[in-house]
Amino acid sequence: MSNLNYSLLLPREDRMPRTIAARTRRVYDLVSSVYPVSTFFFHSKAHDCALKHSGIRNGMRVLEVATGSGEMFRRLVKANPDGQTFGLDLSPNMAAHTLRVARKACPQAEAHTGAVDVRSLPFRSSSFDAVMCCYLLELLSQDDIRRTLREIRRVLRPGGKFSLVVIGQNVKMFNHLYTVGGSLVPAFWGRQVESSVPELIRETGMRVVTDRFVRQGFYPSRVLVAENAAAHRRTARNGR
Ligand SMILES: C[S@@+](CC[C@H](N)C(=O)[O-])C[C@H]1O[C@@H](n2cnc3c(N)ncnc32)[C@H](O)[C@@H]1O
Repeated sequence: MSNLNYSLLLPREDRMPRTIAARTRRVYDLVSSVYPVSTFFFHSKAHDCALKHSGIRNGMRVLEVATGSGEMFRRLVKANPDGQTFGLDLSPNMAAHTLRVARKACPQAEAHTGAVDVRSLPFRSSSFDAVMCCYLLELLSQDDIRRTLREIRRVLRPGGKFSLVVIGQNVKMFNHLYTVGGSLVPAFWGRQVESSVPELIRETGMRVVTDRFVRQGFYPSRVLVAENAAAHRRTARNGR
């Protein structure tokens, strides 16, 4: 599949707290071939919006966490044919599907994917210009959301941009349906976390620069873009 180093990753993943991650991996492995349909109907508009505001340009080093079946990853690779684009997903089938989709769309681009639990990222600090994350946080516990956001910030260079899409909580009827879905299949639906997300981003030291609600039919999403504020703090301290 990709050239990510699995032997490096496994011990890190073993240290992760035990959660429903194993079930999530199995469920998403199972649905990987049909998942693109759901992405097309529910996520594509928010994907458009996130990419538009992400600040991603050709030649960058870009990471997507939780690629799913690769619809956003394909867009990232197309936008960045001369750079490097990395995609990670807990489900091996999703990671494999994502790589196939990207290679087909843009065979000459440098694209890598791997089956990795993104609560611990196998990359050096400050090694990416941009990070993208769509519809993952719903599947993580509150502690794991914090842990994952800290990891994302760690691998993002100062001044780099983090784009995040979460399911919106601003459509009452949808919220009811989601609560039912989440109680029936928690490993697939998770729970809505949108309203707490801006504060969690700020806690990690990133600064929200774009905040948009997008609706695709009855399905609401919130798109946030945050900047790794480390650069600003250093500049202020240096009096520049
Ligand atoms: C709701 S899907 C979203 C997929 C895609 N980002 C999109 O926008 O359509 C959530 C994805 O997150 C992945 N996932 C869940 N927990 C994860 C974890 N801890 N590390 C990496 N991926 C994870 C699942 O395997 C699944 O593919």
